[in-house]
Formats: sequence, C-alpha cells, structure tokens
Amino acid sequence: MSDLLTAQSMHKSFGNVQAVRDASLQIAPGEIVALMGRSGSGKTTMMHLLAGLEKPTSGRILYQEQDITPLDEDALALWRRANIGLVFQAFHLIPTLSALENVAFPLYPDKISASERKERALARLEQVGLAQRADHQPSKLSGGEQQRVAIARALVNTPGLILADEPTGNLDSQTGDEILNLFHELRREAGVSFLIVTHDDKVAATADRILVMKDGEIQ
Ligand SMILES: Nc1ncnc2c1ncn2[C@@H]1O[C@H](COP(=O)(O)OP(=O)(O)OP(=O)(O)O)[C@@H](O)[C@H]1O
Ligand SMILES: [Mg+2]
Repeated sequence: MSDLLTAQSMHKSFGNVQAVRDASLQIAPGEIVALMGRSGSGKTTMMHLLAGLEKPTSGRILYQEQDITPLDEDALALWRRANIGLVFQAFHLIPTLSALENVAFPLYPDKISASERKERALARLEQVGLAQRADHQPSKLSGGEQQRVAIARALVNTPGLILADEPTGNLDSQTGDEILNLFHELRREAGVSFLIVTHDDKVAATADRILVMKDGEIQ
C-alpha cells in the first residue's frame, strides 16, 4: 500500500539555526509512529512542517501522493482541516468558547446540523473522559483537561493523520494510558495514522515504529 504521508529531505532554518536538516520520513495508513529526541532536536519544527504551518526552506511533502508544498495558505488550511488533526504543546483552545464548542469548532464548515455537531463533539469529549466538563471554558479547566479537550478537537472529524506533540505530557499515567488506548482504537476502527512526539519510553513502546531526531536530523 502506498504511504499516507511522505516527507522528502526537509530542511528548515531560522536565521543561522538549522532546526531541521535533511529529514525524510514516511507514514503508512493506520501506522502509529513515535518521534523522540532531546529538547531542541527539531521535533516540533518537523511537526509544524508536516502540518503545513511552516514553509520548509527546502524539501517536499506528499499527502496521499499530492504534493502539498506549493499550496498557498488558504489551500493549506483547507487541506489541513480535511486531513490533519493537531495536538500541540500549547493547546490553542479558544478561551471564550466552552469545551464542547472548542471540540465542535473544526466541524463548523461542514454541512451538518447544529444538533449533529453537538452530538459528535460530545461523543469525543466523552471518549477523553470530559463529558461532564462540556460547558466549562478553558480557563476553568486543569492543564490536563485542556490537553484532553485539544485531543478531542483533533479527533472530532476523524482525520487521516493525527500529529500530536507530547499529547500525554500533562497527564497522569492512567489518563495518558486511556488516551493512548483511544488512539489505538481509532487506528483499528477508522485506520487513522499517528505521529506522536514523546519523551516517554512507555508511550514510544506502544508505537509501531520509533524515529529519533538529533540536531535536526532523523537518525
Ligand atoms: N521560530 C523559531 N525561531 C528561531 N529558532 C527556532 C524557532 N523555532 C524553533 N527554533 C529553534 O530550532 C531548534 C529546534 O526547536 P524545536 O522546537 O523543533 O525542538 P523540539 O525537539 O521540539 O524540543 P522540545 O523537546 O524542547 O519541545 C531549537 O534550537 C530552537 O531554538
Ligand atoms: Mg517541541
């Protein structure tokens, strides 16, 4: 089967810092890949490149064999919304919206009824154990709860690929295990692929494959 995502020889420089250097990777449909490496090794930068949030200095990214590198920002945003779920280190929740509304947010451009949107968002909140916090704004939630809302939002439209930057970083080990189980369930039931940045050997051990970054390179 052909790869879901292929990144070829990615480079990203910030001034004279080479954050990502000649990094290539492939992710197959339904594959769970862990991305490890020391702080500052380029993991988050690589995730931003793969999500189309940063333009690479050079290199290219194919998603389902489509080259997304030349797309402009609007086209990238559409592509991202249809295909990618993002869980980032800063949760980027919208402070004025409730947990439920944050989770429902990616569904707004879809032609579905308000009640279906609410139902789907609530189902995801339930899966991350937060149905009872649906009406809370982010400021009324703990860090781990905010992280779980961000995960529910990333999953709400069942994208092909989830890019997760330390998704269990703020969670106790039991809650972290539940999130990982949910990822594996989505892989089984919907064929979702995952690239998970983690510093946790236990999390990495549940992946199909482990990639390690060092000084901007994938080893
Ligand atoms: N916007 C930026 N401008 C300048 N330098 C940057 C920028 N973003 C990242 N860097 C630098 O690029 C390198 C890689 O950073 P990155 O955030 O990708 O590391 P990381 O592997 O995610 O680290 P951590 O495990 O601490 O999250 C670092 O040296 C960082 O200082
Ligand atoms: Mg990082």
